[in-house]
Amino acid sequence: MYNAFFGFTQNPFNMSPDPAFLFRSPQHEEALASLIYGVQSRKGFIALTGEVGTGKTTMLECLRDFLNAQQIAFASLFNSRLTVEQFFELLAYDLDLRCNRLSKTEVLLSLNNMLMERAGAGRTTVLIVDEAHNLEWDVLEEIRLLGNLENRRGKLLQIILSGQQELDRKLEAPEFRQLKQRIALRCTLRGFSAEEAAAYVNSRMARAGLKNQTIVTPRLLDEIHFRAQGIPRLINAICDNLLLTAFAMESRVATLEMLDEVTADLRLEYPGKNPFRPDSNYPEQVLRRPEVRFRAE
Ligand SMILES: Nc1ncnc2c1ncn2[C@@H]1O[C@H](COP(=O)(O)OP(=O)(O)O)[C@@H](O)[C@H]1O
Ligand SMILES: [Mg+2]
Repeated sequence: MYNAFFGFTQNPFNMSPDPAFLFRSPQHEEALASLIYGVQSRKGFIALTGEVGTGKTTMLECLRDFLNAQQIAFASLFNSRLTVEQFFELLAYDLDLRCNRLSKTEVLLSLNNMLMERAGAGRTTVLIVDEAHNLEWDVLEEIRLLGNLENRRGKLLQIILSGQQELDRKLEAPEFRQLKQRIALRCTLRGFSAEEAAAYVNSRMARAGLKNQTIVTPRLLDEIHFRAQGIPRLINAICDNLLLTAFAMESRVATLEMLDEVTADLRLEYPGKNPFRPDSNYPEQVLRRPEVRFRAE
């Protein structure tokens, strides 16, 4: 909507996990390198964890691009609320197994053959499970068993489990201790630092056609980072709404007042947002002073 006004050729803050917009922060770079290394060296289980919106699905998209380029076969499950039957059906579908996909036994036999054949030819096969914290226990158990398949040279199936921190807690359960111990590689994503967040916003705007943007000042970028707690998804949501607000007001520069409006609309919670409780003794005129809403430097 605001693209032409600011000179963007496309939306800079799209919510989709598009590798074309990848910002290579050190932690994202490291996570992607670990995923690729884990797959290539047949580590078996690899876990990618992080809060909502930290970039896990984006990393998996980048990994898929890599696997496609290397012609490495993979199955990827993005909806993890599955029954065991649905899990095997999707697995068979993604790996193009020629068998009765509704029969778990047939899928397992066919999968085993395929994995042995591929491993024999020195080829790797990968299973990617996003939102893995939502997996039902019985599906997780099937995945654990698939992870046991091996020949002399290593695991036949490389399994990437990606999810929110609950995944780690889920794997603490006694029945999954063994799986947990078998996770050979772990990567965790966190929110950006203030410097990274500023570079992230600038890089997305540059990628969308606006180099050296002057819409959001460094001071405001710092405040956006703080209110978004460094989480890329929240930074995108704030920036998208901020640009929309600036556009609606026909302003080429975003202001702190606009940011206040946007974060209030998004109902964002951040430390110090409401430093004064409703029952506090501060007089009304103090509470209304605009600077009261700012974070103390
Ligand atoms: N390193 C990054 N480079 C570019 N965009 C990113 C990066 N990390 C996260 N994002 C963006 O943040 C949003 C949330 O990322 P996503 O991968 O969906 O997070 P998660 O799967 O952890 O919830 C998406 O819009 C995505 O494009
Ligand atoms: Mg995700």
